[in-house]
Amino acid sequence: MSRGQPKAKTDLACLILAAGKGTRMYSGRAKMLHQLLGMPLVSYPVERALELHASPIVAVLGFQRAEVEKVLIARHGQGTVTVVEQTEQKGTGHAVRLGLAALRGWEGTVLILYGDVPLLSRETLTALVKKSRQGGTLAILTAELARPHGYGRVIRDSRGHVAGVVEDKDASEDQRRITEVNAGIYAAPAAFLRQATARLSPRNAQGELYLTDIIAKAASSIGVVSVTVSTEEMAGVNDRQQLVSVEKILCRRIVEQLGKHATFRDPETALVEAGVAIDEDVEIGRNVVLRGRTRIGAGVRVDDGCILTDTEVGAGANLLPYTVATQSCIGPGAKVGPFAHLRPGTELGPEVHVGNFVETKKSRLGRGSKANHLTYLGDTIIGERVNVGAGTITCNYNGYEKRQTIIEDGAFIGSDTQLVAPVRVGKRAVVAAGATITEDIRDGALAITRAPLTQVDGYADRVAARYTNKATSKP
Ligand code: UD1
Ligand code: CA
Repeated sequence: MSRGQPKAKTDLACLILAAGKGTRMYSGRAKMLHQLLGMPLVSYPVERALELHASPIVAVLGFQRAEVEKVLIARHGQGTVTVVEQTEQKGTGHAVRLGLAALRGWEGTVLILYGDVPLLSRETLTALVKKSRQGGTLAILTAELARPHGYGRVIRDSRGHVAGVVEDKDASEDQRRITEVNAGIYAAPAAFLRQATARLSPRNAQGELYLTDIIAKAASSIGVVSVTVSTEEMAGVNDRQQLVSVEKILCRRIVEQLGKHATFRDPETALVEAGVAIDEDVEIGRNVVLRGRTRIGAGVRVDDGCILTDTEVGAGANLLPYTVATQSCIGPGAKVGPFAHLRPGTELGPEVHVGNFVETKKSRLGRGSKANHLTYLGDTIIGERVNVGAGTITCNYNGYEKRQTIIEDGAFIGSDTQLVAPVRVGKRAVVAAGATITEDIRDGALAITRAPLTQVDGYADRVAARYTNKATSKP
């Protein structure tokens, strides 16, 4: 992230106010770091700014600045967002003044966003910027709220023009009854913002520099226009209830969009992140979670309770209930679950079957291979048409390092086998049930490590007789 003078690339710049601690989150972490549908809160306005091609994008950070900055770099790349530090939260006006210092010498329109208002649409913000540009005015976003308590109220003159905004704590009884509120999102010429924020005073109920004081200033100079926004879009995140209700709204929007060509059996219970892609004719069951860069091919069925993270599912695959897959690749026509756990680095080829209580990690299974029951496959390369019997375990860890198991095409691994890695089972080799394989098995060979079986005839009766006689001979 650049800390010097950002380069102007367009005539739209964006200031993101995000210095607040978020006291009502009752959290050890800055509010901006809390995750909202797989993305930190602070990234939402950054994404909006990027969509509008705003540059520079300046974030005013305070509480846990270093951590928030790190997250911004990880998410959006070095240099995308210029960070300005506000060590003491002296108000929105003060924050903007600091942000503007990072735009020294820059002329154009400045869009002001909040770090904690994630639902604003691109359309709304485009309209706001357009309004400001049309007349070189200050454009403000306002909303009608049935319960306006806590928000700044929009004061209009007799002709209906915006005359100013008065904060809830400074408002008179009459002003408090106004239901049109200030959403706190603005677009204005940089020159006006510089001038207007240079002369703010903290003489108000909160002793802060109110950014809202610039509205009356604009009304008597460059003019103010308003753009209305729905209550839903302007929703801010101040506490954990609001965090989850905003997350629900974001999720609902995504599911509605994907639900046009995929069937969500119970859309209310699906959790789908923004980066997920789903092809046609996919069926999604109840309580399904799809995260990260998950991709689902045509005709796939994802049954109830599946949780997929950064996982690719090939066309026509069938994921039975409660399959959990992370950073995995599931081939076309594969059948997985119920209760399968595919850990990072799993690659299932076409038509592979992985059944219940099977765990895989960094393992590849070739076309048509099967591991249907109670198995652990770690650091394993399996060829085509291999059958892995119930209870097979790859012993891939010796306490110090992970080692590889290779099972070649057409091999048959009997039930309850331990494959002690590093080890290779050759093509079409047969491992008899209950084996502990500690050396490579040759192509087509039978491997058997069974202890000799002994049978003692009449044993049960002899033992029973001993105990029964004792019991009856006792007084
Ligand atoms: C502000 C508006 C109010 C509007 C409301 C909408 C002012 C004075 N009031 O009120 O009219 O109805 O937003 O939500 O602007 N921030 C900083 N540094 C500061 C103070 C705030 O970065 O010194 C950031 C916060 O992290 C937050 C945003 O600015 O993201 C808004 O601050 P907040 O305290 O929520 O503003 P309100 O007092 O609610
Ligand atoms: Ca707020």
